[in-house]
Amino acid sequence: MAVENMKRILVEAQKGHYAVGAFNIVDYNSMRAVVSAAEETSAPVIVQTSVKTVKFWGAEAIVAWLNQIAKESPVSVALHLDHCKEVDFCRKCIDAGWSSVMIDASSLPFEENLAATKRVVEMAEAVAVSVEAEMGEIGGVEEDIVVADEDAHLADPKKVLAFCREVELACFAPAIGTAHGVYKGEPKLDFERLETIAKQTGVPIALHGGTGLADDVFRKGISLGCAKINISTQIKYAFIDGFVDYHNENKVYEPLKPLGAQLERIKKEVKEKIELFGSAGKA
Ligand code: 13P
Repeated sequence: MAVENMKRILVEAQKGHYAVGAFNIVDYNSMRAVVSAAEETSAPVIVQTSVKTVKFWGAEAIVAWLNQIAKESPVSVALHLDHCKEVDFCRKCIDAGWSSVMIDASSLPFEENLAATKRVVEMAEAVAVSVEAEMGEIGGVEEDIVVADEDAHLADPKKVLAFCREVELACFAPAIGTAHGVYKGEPKLDFERLETIAKQTGVPIALHGGTGLADDVFRKGISLGCAKINISTQIKYAFIDGFVDYHNENKVYEPLKPLGAQLERIKKEVKEKIELFGSAGKA
């Protein structure tokens, strides 16, 4: 299949009361692992890239890998740009072939966040690409974006509603108490806020900071309207540990062997998440 628009995938998820995993890949092997996991569970999937990953490999290379992988795949795959602060970089990825982008202008005042989001939606709509936006500030570390605990704040449901009335989004990411990276203590999610926002806007909700959340937290979030769940740090750990553990156990200098172990480790963990999110069998 060709790489798909994320909106259709999330509308189906919203209707079916399940969530689609958005897994941050870092190279061809991790991309292949994520798509293979989706194939083995017959699930739709979102291959997500940070801006840093795009800058490392180049946009054209990433699109070429996924076009080749997705062409041979029977499942729906979207290519989504995660947390992009710059409108021009969103444009670059849209032009290169991303089927979805996140403009994250959440650190700006309401009007400026809305204006930047509108500009991206306008350029994306013209070529059937979908858009995610954020409000409030999600704490923690996501690649080069660092939000200190004291700066993190939750999304105001009234402002989110006003925002979502102004722009047509594939999904919306309100800060509801999760954080990027490894949790220091037990995260406290504001489920009431999530429920209010999901009901009032009717827009599929993106849950950020998926690494380290308990299974019940995912289930509750999905029951209240989360249709896209982001997992990044867990993939980074599986990527490094899958390779290093193989090497430590076998001490052979044949790169394809630890790369194979890395692929299997990522695939296993992605499959577990797909099952948990309820998207298995929904491709
Ligand atoms: P984690 O790194 O905590 O899994 O968060 C991923 C995320 O939300 C990416 O935007």
